[in-house]
Amino acid sequence: MAAPHPPRTDDWWRDAVIYQVYPRSFADGDGDGTGDLAGVRARLPHLAELGVDALWFTPWYASPMVDGGYDVADYRAIDPAFGTLDEAEKLIAEAAELGLRVIVDIVPNHVSDQHVWFRQALAAGPGSPERERFHFRPGRGEHGELPPNDWPSQFSGNTWTRVPDGEWYLHLFTPEQPDLNWAHPDVRREHEDILRFWFARGVAGVRIDSAALLTKDPDLRDFTEGVDPHPYIDLDEIHDVYRSWRAVADEYGGVFVGEVWLPDAERFARYLRPDELHTAFNFNFLACPWDPDRLRRTIDDTLAEHAPVNAPATWVLCNHDVTRTATRYGREDTGFDFAKKRFGIPTDLELGTRRARAAALLTLALPGSVYLYQGEELGLPEADVPLDRVQDPMHFRSGGTDPGRDGCRVPLPWEAEAPSYGFGTHAGTEPWLPQPADWGRHAVDRQTADPGSMLALYRTALGVRRAEAALGDGPMRWLPSPEGVLAFARAEDLQCVVNLSGAPVDLPPHTEVLLSSEPLPADGSLPTDTAVWLRT
Ligand code: NOJ
Repeated sequence: MAAPHPPRTDDWWRDAVIYQVYPRSFADGDGDGTGDLAGVRARLPHLAELGVDALWFTPWYASPMVDGGYDVADYRAIDPAFGTLDEAEKLIAEAAELGLRVIVDIVPNHVSDQHVWFRQALAAGPGSPERERFHFRPGRGEHGELPPNDWPSQFSGNTWTRVPDGEWYLHLFTPEQPDLNWAHPDVRREHEDILRFWFARGVAGVRIDSAALLTKDPDLRDFTEGVDPHPYIDLDEIHDVYRSWRAVADEYGGVFVGEVWLPDAERFARYLRPDELHTAFNFNFLACPWDPDRLRRTIDDTLAEHAPVNAPATWVLCNHDVTRTATRYGREDTGFDFAKKRFGIPTDLELGTRRARAAALLTLALPGSVYLYQGEELGLPEADVPLDRVQDPMHFRSGGTDPGRDGCRVPLPWEAEAPSYGFGTHAGTEPWLPQPADWGRHAVDRQTADPGSMLALYRTALGVRRAEAALGDGPMRWLPSPEGVLAFARAEDLQCVVNLSGAPVDLPPHTEVLLSSEPLPADGSLPTDTAVWLRT
């Protein structure tokens, strides 16, 4: 195993590689078919050996799991399927011993309908102070039979649900995820307390779910396409929330990463002002097609929008909500768009994997921090989940057209020959989502033995990135390059070159090839869909 490593700087988050753990599908320590904290603890050496700096855990709190844990019933308890608070504390400590920081996921926009506040609100009835923590309203229409407004959902379908006493409540996601009222002082106080609860337990950072959605138009006015401001996305008042949060984080030296999906670069950068969030996910890069001009423009835009607020960029290729990289890059349309998700889109996995390898080196050479979603280091494709096993509410709320997000959430393969590919400990137990029949070829043990595997590429790349001070935070400079080729310098003597043109190109002069995403031919050329790190 690699030796524990000290942080490179106090500003570790400016260039960290952060591995996203989806606990339900990472490793099952108690053999019930669902991943858990015991499983993560047992597999921590894999993560240390991989060479990442921090682990972000998607929600591990008590939850009915209607939306994979993003429906939180109690932010201070671990879901019994995952373990206990005591285990979480042990995990945080054990990770720290291996040099791995822990980031937890806070979901401030909504709670589960099983959260004590929502149950109290339902019981207390219309006009009660308990209802004021949410958005309860009478309906429109003669008998209040119509929802209070026309807001579009983040998940397709309705945004209001009527309760037996006739009032309606707002939920931007599923009915089991009622939205909190962020104009209420209890809501603000409670969340600052939750932040303290987790920072005091040694977590280094917090990922903020749906970070641009918290505050709502006070009159809940209707949505009109094209009219600004939007009644619930990115209201100015939200920044006041994050300024208070930042003061809390600063007490502990904690950092934030916001889930901010906003097309407007200037509005996006507001979240990253020095007294607000440290970082936010760069979804424009994730959504960008495998196209040299589009990628270059996205990289330039990203760096330009972060520069005025002196925030580091983040680079994200995949997460638990989107189609896996190898599958996406093998399709005709290599971009990502929630609205375009469909069953059965053809893909060339060999091509997609080759591009995913090149994208890994591109991403790890860019200035800023990098997020790596579990299974990306294994090159996992999007799995086909049989219709009768689909669980994701996004599928059901779309009326069945959207395949949902289960295909990127299938339990990881650890051992090619073991039952459930080593995910679980009990031979007879089926994982909560079925694994494809060929999952074994992606297994960690098989890839560990293969120097040409995706896992080997990631391990080497992360090692080189750690050793080379010029990689990570800092300047980058585009270099002249043939059409379809991205070439940039991270230091006088370090270059990254990615060939997205359809034909081989000559490698620029260099003294050493530090790493390449494919074996290089002897003629000094760089094949198509291949990336290389060069010493020059
Ligand atoms: C974003 C999360 O990443 C996603 O998984 C979840 O369904 C929504 N927010 C709602 O919490």
